[in-house]
Amino acid sequence: MVASPHGGVLIDRLCRGQEGEEWLKKAESLPSWTLDKRLLSDVECIATGVYSPLQGFLGEEDYLSVRDQMRLADGTVWSLPVTLPVEENEARRVREGDQVALRGPDGRVYALMEVTSLFRVDQQREAEAVFGTPDSNHPGVARLFEASSIYAGGPIWMIRLPDHGLFSGEWMEPAQTRRIFAERGWKRVVGFQTRNPVHRAHEYIQKSALETVDGLFFNPLVGETKKDDIPAEIRLESYRTILNHYYPQERVLFGVYPAAMRYAGPREAVFHALVRKNYGCTHFIVGRDHAGVGDYYGTYDAQQIFSRFKEEELGITPLFFEHSFYCRSCQGMASKKTCPHPPQDHVTLSGTRVREMLKKGMTPPPEFSRPEVIRVLIQGLQESKISR
Ligand code: ADX
Repeated sequence: MVASPHGGVLIDRLCRGQEGEEWLKKAESLPSWTLDKRLLSDVECIATGVYSPLQGFLGEEDYLSVRDQMRLADGTVWSLPVTLPVEENEARRVREGDQVALRGPDGRVYALMEVTSLFRVDQQREAEAVFGTPDSNHPGVARLFEASSIYAGGPIWMIRLPDHGLFSGEWMEPAQTRRIFAERGWKRVVGFQTRNPVHRAHEYIQKSALETVDGLFFNPLVGETKKDDIPAEIRLESYRTILNHYYPQERVLFGVYPAAMRYAGPREAVFHALVRKNYGCTHFIVGRDHAGVGDYYGTYDAQQIFSRFKEEELGITPLFFEHSFYCRSCQGMASKKTCPHPPQDHVTLSGTRVREMLKKGMTPPPEFSRPEVIRVLIQGLQESKISR
């Protein structure tokens, strides 16, 4: 049995076929708001059940409850506000109870929304609660402050899905992944989140987890990330390469997670776990500084936060991993739980250092990253430089 969706029911707010056509016609006559790529990915995640039990953007009551208690107003655990900021002049055109068409960056209508709540928020307070800092150098806080402080909440209906382009082959709705897990007979499935290319430490923690469960759902985030992260389009080929060379095909499912990174560290780790529960995972990997950025969070804050919830209210089991590395004396991957040797024997590189090396065409050591992966990344980064 795969995990039950969060809140008990897998949300499906995609209008398909004839119904969709009719809604589309209706939408053309409604006032509309234009969403950026990131907000559109939230609409998609709501509509396809990735964010179950959300049926739309949070209204004021749920928003305040999530901000202050990490729960929806009905008590369900929910750690990040999924909200729709609307510019003041746009908000003025609409009253609570109205329907609005939601357009994408390309101007096309993607969804309808019934606005049930229009409210102004205290952004400073949200930053401190969600990101643990009011510092606008934090990319999530910067994003929050750039946006309007008026939020619109209410249920959505999605009429068309965005074009998934390069990711089409690896794009799957939770209903599909759940079906695949069941068909493969996987009862215990571990989900893995990443916004980076897969390096040896990732591979090590995934495979350590896989030793004790039936399957791995390899689910990299391909929505918006900060500028200096490696773009998802470039990472994609590196994922295919490493999975082909080093993973047992029958024990891994590769599907992309379309949402944006928030860089909310601990709160985002809980959010990431709930999302993977909706995809059908029973377990979720949380390593060091999950969803972290800079020095805003302690190395294991994103693990400690889970102790604030009962296991049954999460409904997915987090699997915690220590900082892992290659040890020259052990001649293998390890962590301080398993390796007695001093730090000078360990091969570790920061994400920033690796990105710098790759951009210069330099190869990090094979103990840090598989050479096949590095080749694909360097080539991808060079091609993207040429095409810019
Ligand atoms: S994240 O922002 O998506 O969390 P990243 O891609 O770096 O970032 O990490 C993916 C997962 O691997 C996270 O759970 C993270 O904690 C874990 N992780 C990354 N590097 C290591 C490491 N060296 N040791 C242990 N866990 C790690």
